[in-house]
Amino acid sequence: MTTLVHVSDLHFGRPAVSEQLDSLLKYIGRLKPDAVAVSGDLTQRCSIAEFRQARDYLEAIGRVAPYIVIPGNHDIRWLGAVLRNLGIVGFIGRRAHEHKYSRYRRYISEDLSPSLTIPGVVIAGLNTAHGITRGSLTRRLRDLGVIGHVRSDDLAHVRRTFEEAPPEAARVVMIHHNLMRGPISGRHGLANTDEALRAFASLGAELVLCGHDHQEAVHSVETSEAGLVISTAGTISSRRRPGHPSSFNLVRVREESLSITIYAWSEKAGDFSPAGEHLFPRRARKRP
Ligand SMILES: [Fe+2]
Ligand SMILES: [Fe+2]
Repeated sequence: MTTLVHVSDLHFGRPAVSEQLDSLLKYIGRLKPDAVAVSGDLTQRCSIAEFRQARDYLEAIGRVAPYIVIPGNHDIRWLGAVLRNLGIVGFIGRRAHEHKYSRYRRYISEDLSPSLTIPGVVIAGLNTAHGITRGSLTRRLRDLGVIGHVRSDDLAHVRRTFEEAPPEAARVVMIHHNLMRGPISGRHGLANTDEALRAFASLGAELVLCGHDHQEAVHSVETSEAGLVISTAGTISSRRRPGHPSSFNLVRVREESLSITIYAWSEKAGDFSPAGEHLFPRRARKRP
């Protein structure tokens, strides 16, 4: 069995809740997962101080288990995102692009779409946080720069990662933006959801890890014969949805099944505890 702790939207800065972060770290120590997957929004305002706190926290996780992390929409710098993506070319465009991810790259990782292979599982991280882009322009003003987009270049990277992985490893894609409409928010995180679902399924993915909606959810979609399970992690911060506690997801990949257990925060107990398990057969396992 391979276990993954899937967390998202830590939002270091004002929304961070130190009791929850401490408890999560203790939990990771107790569960001893094979890896920890962090699906973006490490910071609230993309500030240097927030990135430093996030980096220290990731280092603490890294002392217990290997981790993989990608940026979220809160982790990129607005000015660069706007100038670059609206087609300002040449020197300014290049500098703007560098500016967009500069803090994430400096404090967290150079690699915006990293991958991690552990026994039984390969995770391909795919950056969906591009700011305001042609591919994710929307008339909904509050979604401008918030909504994400899966780019074909990044899909090629996922394809390569999966091609190089051992055949028996479960194929997992991690993105920041939620693939399914949030039950409370009523919002999709991605501009090209259907295209992304079809692409992930055709690449042989069994599981997608995402966040951004700040509400935990587990779905199974029949995009391909093998089906695709989607783990949406809630937030570990005060930016939770009304009536929904902070939470993280524990993924267990067994030979025949894949399960996701949601661990929800209890204010009374001051700790996380299991709050429901979702179990799926591993149909994709019969890959030729
Ligand atoms: Fe977030
Ligand atoms: Fe987000």
